[in-house]
Amino acid sequence: MLIAQLSDTHIMAPGEKTCGVAEMDAHLRRCVESINAVLPKPDIVLVTGDVTHKFKEEEAQHAAVILSQLEMPLFIVPGNHDDRQVLSRVFGPEICPLSDEGYVDYVIDAYPVRIIALDTLHVGHAGGHISAARLDWLRAQLDDATEQPTVIMAHHPPLDIGVPETYEDGFSGAGDLGQLIAQYPNIERVLCGHVHLHTNSRWRGTVVTTAPSIGMQLTLDLSGTDASRFFLSDPAYLLHHWTADQALITHPIQVTDLDGPFHFT
Ligand SMILES: [Fe+2]
Ligand SMILES: [Fe+2]
Repeated sequence: MLIAQLSDTHIMAPGEKTCGVAEMDAHLRRCVESINAVLPKPDIVLVTGDVTHKFKEEEAQHAAVILSQLEMPLFIVPGNHDDRQVLSRVFGPEICPLSDEGYVDYVIDAYPVRIIALDTLHVGHAGGHISAARLDWLRAQLDDATEQPTVIMAHHPPLDIGVPETYEDGFSGAGDLGQLIAQYPNIERVLCGHVHLHTNSRWRGTVVTTAPSIGMQLTLDLSGTDASRFFLSDPAYLLHHWTADQALITHPIQVTDLDGPFHFT
């Protein structure tokens, strides 16, 4: 099974650049073309939040038009730059379903790796949030398939990754989430976005992976003194390969024109 993960697309309305400089729609088109060209074809595409930049419906519609070119099923969780109702309305219940409680919490059960989408959006805050009631929901889903390899997809990483997007923004409820996750050794990975960097961290018995943004890479300052800024980067995404050996291998993909390929001699 192949899972492509796009994150932090920060799409603006047609004709507008994100933060005045980043042509994120062009980057998203190149990522979509690249994913469609991967062989074997990815089974599904996950978008781990910040689909839009300013919560607007026209931004979500612009993203939806570009993402409609994907040749495989698409699934979305919202980020702090999204309005979950707008995303769900524009993308529809197949791609971004709202629960009865009004969250984008759902389970994708049709593949060898089970995927649980967790909505960590905390309205009015940059950081993440998970309530006790929704942890109960997550526990119930995990109890339904304790033997099946499972991936959790969420926008906010639940640990401090050493950049302002985690130590300033925070994640309320992350401790309780970690205690719950530690009880399920079948959780292969927690796939996140938000930090606009590709990182991997061991956490509560599993691995938290954050995806790069498709075009706005965080300046990496681990001194704790730099304000949050970004570089314009090449289009990028992650490809997670669930192998016959039951290992989830992550390949970071940069969509760039490289010389080659050449034979080793
Ligand atoms: Fe973001
Ligand atoms: Fe974010």
